[in-house]
Amino acid sequence: MIDLHCHLLPGIDDGPDTLKESLALCRIAVNDGITHAVVTPHIHPGRWENTRQSIEQQRNNLQQALNQQGTPLQLGFAAEVRLTDQILQQVENNEIPFYGKVDGYQIMLLEFPHSHIIPGSDKLVAWLMKHNIRPLIAHPERNKQIMKDPTQLRPFIEVGCWLQLTAGSVTANFGERAQQIAHQLLKDDVVAVLASDGHNAKARQPGLKQAFDAITEQYGAERARRLTLHTPAVIAAGQFTEQAITV
Ligand SMILES: [Fe+2]
Repeated sequence: MIDLHCHLLPGIDDGPDTLKESLALCRIAVNDGITHAVVTPHIHPGRWENTRQSIEQQRNNLQQALNQQGTPLQLGFAAEVRLTDQILQQVENNEIPFYGKVDGYQIMLLEFPHSHIIPGSDKLVAWLMKHNIRPLIAHPERNKQIMKDPTQLRPFIEVGCWLQLTAGSVTANFGERAQQIAHQLLKDDVVAVLASDGHNAKARQPGLKQAFDAITEQYGAERARRLTLHTPAVIAAGQFTEQAITV
């Protein structure tokens, strides 16, 4: 599987603190069936001041350590970009790492605040689309406002956003309501990507395989493969050598 949302780099956000912890988490990811992972550290002004350059450097360091250990995990890099009024400037400064281009649009992992949807988010997203940047919205099923009223997500889907579900939501690790919303979105077939959002070796392990199996059982193997392999391979095509991905 190809994991498009995970926090594997050490000391850069709320993922692992040390290289040792990173390597242990990477081994868990490999045992979970992940062959390729696009690391997505937080970019959140005032909290996590990461940039394209700092993330790329850290990715290179971790890849080198993985290679030395013989851990079969290929790393790409992007970022989980918090939706703030600074996004426009960050885009203009070329600070944001995208997954890659699909049909003329750069794909950006975009995170809403957990508690609510900031008024005006629809306009900001429309601005991004106009600038050929398509948001992949990170775990909408865990946003409190969407949990209360799932129709709040509709304008974002209509403007062209794609959706990323967190594996743990499908298997109820984030509670019953997040699981309900996750399955409603799966039933509506509006989910583009299933990803781990793995942060650590304790409560936030990858768990992608368990969700893959649950989706296979309820929606069929083809859907599970589309969400964890086929679509991620298209989105991250530029991150890995072509031969590295066996779709
Ligand atoms: Fe995340």
